[in-house]
Amino acid sequence: MKRWLSSFLVLVLIAVIGIVVFVSSGLYRIGAATPHWPLTESLLHTLRERSIERHAQGVAVPPLDERQMVLKGAAAYDEMCVVCHLAPGMQPTPVHTGLYPQPPKLAEHGIEPKTAFWVVKHGIKMTGMPAWGETHGDEELWNIVAFLDKLPEMSPQEYQDIVAQASSAGGGHGHGTSGHTHGAAAGQGQGSAPASGNRQQHPQE
Ligand code: HEC
Repeated sequence: MKRWLSSFLVLVLIAVIGIVVFVSSGLYRIGAATPHWPLTESLLHTLRERSIERHAQGVAVPPLDERQMVLKGAAAYDEMCVVCHLAPGMQPTPVHTGLYPQPPKLAEHGIEPKTAFWVVKHGIKMTGMPAWGETHGDEELWNIVAFLDKLPEMSPQEYQDIVAQASSAGGGHGHGTSGHTHGAAAGQGQGSAPASGNRQQHPQE
């Protein structure tokens, strides 16, 4: 029994030394164009899915059908998310194509509001998905979730229309004077330049 235990400990020690040597050797290919091994990929996938599921459990979802919420969410989505998550009928952007893992096309599959809210607020480590809760209040994030709820049903034309309508209505970001002190309104204003650039990229098909 004792001999078994000491050989086991020696093996563990060798494994730990091996890991330390490998990590410090620089041999690992960190480049985003080299995919993970299928095993690593599936471990990370499970880790992410289970973590989000568990943490999103306690999120209380407010009513999401109010038109104003969806409109504000549309403007915010077009400014902050499109470069990675694309929009109905839109050609992939270089950012979408180059990221690993690749951001999902949110117009192509629905996502539960609880989960969406948690992910949008907290982001996902080591993926490029930002924690928008660092710069935006819950109310703004719920507007985006309300919009995401409608997005999979939208045609390219409907998407263009709702974004145009949102920006002519002040985009819901016009409320820079209404006590949004975190600077998000200003940040979103600047964001409109690349977003409208993107919009030109997607043909009206
Ligand atoms: C810089 C790129 C980038 C931007 C900008 C970005 N995301 Fe993401 N997002 C990602 C990536 C990458 C993932 C996927 C991570 C993964 O596969 O684990 C992701 C995942 C998500 C998910 C989870 C999807 C699912 O099916 O699990 C949601 C929801 C989401 N993002 C919403 C948003 C919203 C809303 C915005 C804008 C406010 C946004 N993202 C902006 C890169 C981005």
